[in-house]
Amino acid sequence: MFEKKTIKDVDVKDQVVLVRADYNVPLAKREDGGMKVLSDFRMKESLPTLKYLLENGAKKIIIISHLGRPEGKDEELSLKIVAEHLKKLLPGVTVGFVGECRGEEVEQAVEAMPEGSILVLENLRFEPGEKKNDEEFAEDIVRSTGATLFVQDGFAVTHRAHASTSAIAKLIPAVAGLLVEKEVNLLKKSLEDPEHPLVVIIGGAKVADKQPLIDKFLPVADRIIIGGKIAADGYTTDAEQVYVAEDFDENAAGEKLDVGPISTCKIADMVSGAKTVVWNGVLGKVEDPAYATSSVILAKTLGEKDDVVSIICGGDTSGFVENMQANSPELNYSLISTGGGAALSLLSGEEMPGIESLRD
Ligand code: 3PG
Repeated sequence: MFEKKTIKDVDVKDQVVLVRADYNVPLAKREDGGMKVLSDFRMKESLPTLKYLLENGAKKIIIISHLGRPEGKDEELSLKIVAEHLKKLLPGVTVGFVGECRGEEVEQAVEAMPEGSILVLENLRFEPGEKKNDEEFAEDIVRSTGATLFVQDGFAVTHRAHASTSAIAKLIPAVAGLLVEKEVNLLKKSLEDPEHPLVVIIGGAKVADKQPLIDKFLPVADRIIIGGKIAADGYTTDAEQVYVAEDFDENAAGEKLDVGPISTCKIADMVSGAKTVVWNGVLGKVEDPAYATSSVILAKTLGEKDDVVSIICGGDTSGFVENMQANSPELNYSLISTGGGAALSLLSGEEMPGIESLRD
């Protein structure tokens, strides 16, 4: 189903590989004022590609990523802390960091890299050329690193046309990493060739963001369930297969903050009979445990069911399920997508410049 070349289609041996990861991870302040990685889910998901490259003889691996949305240099958004964290995830592998993403310092750092090691470059968004999809900026990165192969493995950023997702792929052979291949395959299959019954659960806050997704799934889904604030705000439709949550848990001020018990039971029941489930958008205000009940029950029902392809996508939903799985490792899902906006764009049929730019 994946129509682009991947790292498995090319010889990576002796190549200097430039890997575009999405290490845009949540950070928190440490007590000493420095920063720490709060969730390394995206980093862990990038490990199969890095290990494949190392095991198959890649000479040097250089990782590029953005972190946050800085306007120019911002020490709090340096990828240094991420590089240090990556070291812990790859014991026995030399992982270095350089505080630039192009230029002489990068050249020297790459030159000094031992074979079979990894170097993380500084946050791409410290430079205006990244978001402008600037060709010269991309050329500088390739020239400074001496990269001979580009690997796109930052699925979460593939909906952006930036220098590190678009312009750079025109300069050297560009293929997908294993994470991009896995996410695109599972997400596309859920839409184009799902095992039925297919149940799609849409939650979250903004109808405008979710309507394209609902429209895409209407012709293919056996059931579409609407929860979250969208349902609480009174979403209506004539489509027969759409179930909108019918009762809600409210706070003292009468705000509907979670799907209520009647709807939760019905949703769990619908999910129990499904062969494919796509879940995008939490059902309630999950940051408050008092209003996370319906989402907890759904995550458990889905994670305990072993005869289903379960796809969790959307930043809030993936984060929520990932946390639940961290506390209950027996919960199992086919895909917890690393891509919030990217998964939504792909499923909504929008352009994906970071994928389209790769080799056919
Ligand atoms: C994400 O977190 O969704 C990606 O890293 C993309 O980040 P952006 O929305 O700042 O482009």
